[in-house]
Amino acid sequence: MKRLDDFRMQMGRHELVPIMIGGMGVDISSADLALEAARLGGVGHISDAMIKTVTDRRYKTKFVKAKQALYKYNVESADKSAVKFDLGHLAEATRLHVEKTMARKTGTGQVYINCMEKLTMNAPKETLKVRMSAALDAGIDGITLAAGLHLGSFALIEDHPRFRDAKLGIIVSSLRALQLFLKKNSRLNRLPDYVVVEGPLAGGHLGFGMDWAQYDLATIVAEILAYLKAEQLDIPVIPAGGIFTGTDAVRFMEMGAAGVQVATRFTVTKECGLPDDIKQEYFKADEDDIEVNEISPTGYPMRMIKSSPGIGDGIRPNCEAYGYLLDANGKCAYIDAYNREVAAHPGEKRIAVMDKTCLCTHMRNFEIWTCGQLTWRLKDTSLRNADDSYQLLSAEHVFQDYQFSTDNQVRLPAPEAVPA
Ligand SMILES: Cc1cc2nc3c(=O)[nH]c(=O)nc-3n(C[C@H](O)[C@H](O)[C@H](O)COP(=O)(O)O)c2cc1C
Repeated sequence: MKRLDDFRMQMGRHELVPIMIGGMGVDISSADLALEAARLGGVGHISDAMIKTVTDRRYKTKFVKAKQALYKYNVESADKSAVKFDLGHLAEATRLHVEKTMARKTGTGQVYINCMEKLTMNAPKETLKVRMSAALDAGIDGITLAAGLHLGSFALIEDHPRFRDAKLGIIVSSLRALQLFLKKNSRLNRLPDYVVVEGPLAGGHLGFGMDWAQYDLATIVAEILAYLKAEQLDIPVIPAGGIFTGTDAVRFMEMGAAGVQVATRFTVTKECGLPDDIKQEYFKADEDDIEVNEISPTGYPMRMIKSSPGIGDGIRPNCEAYGYLLDANGKCAYIDAYNREVAAHPGEKRIAVMDKTCLCTHMRNFEIWTCGQLTWRLKDTSLRNADDSYQLLSAEHVFQDYQFSTDNQVRLPAPEAVPA
């Protein structure tokens, strides 16, 4: 019986363990987690979502305060079009996070950055160009383009000296999305170095509608593999979403995948950026505690634990400090939903907004608990402590479980002494 370790992922001249830990926004896929993947010979992701918040927390910068101070006058206004990101600060924050991460890198693996197009930041093209260029300047091994079709993203960095040497990949959820991307970029004479095919069971935003349950990852992967073969395009294909054991991964490798991208199982590791008490919520969640809803202002459905405190919370929009989801005209669906509820409930101090959420504020505060569909199986991956909490895992343990396990098994960790 084969193990995932019987395969290798060839990424240009790099031979890797075929395990990629997916990007998890606002520092859930922390540098520590990504660096473990690289140390163990695979690929880890950091994320540039809310990068200023991340560097303020990690490296004591004051970017968020500076932006908030600049636009304080606008807090009461429904019109956020004036609230712009300082591109110099954005570049500085991105460089800082990437440089500090890459300086600590060991092992033969790689560290990539997850770049979501849906973070439109009130100037989509300008900010995305700065984000990607700064990450390349600071020595990131690769960029994974996520949450969007990214039809123009390669062109934004075609003049960068690392455009042809850094690894550049794209996440798609259908053959059609991949075909569009390839068509739009044909003039650049530069194929993506890898394609992550994300199916309907993934965490975060979904590349499907609310009919996500009608789709199946293996079917989409098979279609994409067949298309690439027919077109004689040699692009590594990396399935993602619901790959819970090494055996699940081997099934995809035997179909012809180059590697797998996984995330949910790492949400309960010590290196993951979620606060420890929230990792316990992930462990505890049952299948019917998980839902896909439409409260993300991005317009994409998002999967989360139903008891996430951010659901229904009617906090005042905080775009002056954050504003990552403002579109090219300074609009966000949460602002409209919030103002509608304020108008409907005059004089009320606390209002509820059920149909949209202030995703920036709540992701920053770890109050939207986005997760993969198989989160309910996490309780079978660890041991229970005397106080009923679950023992956190090491990223190394989970990584090596994917790498070496057989027979649909999940290896449990060695019991740890709990401090009295
Ligand atoms: C907590 C969490 C946050 C995520 N955030 C992002 C993100 O910011 N950007 C992204 O492209 N994918 C995001 N994802 C998707 C993962 O990178 C990955 O592709 C997917 O979850 C893999 O499926 P699995 O979780 O079933 O292993 C997230 C997933 C989880 C569990």
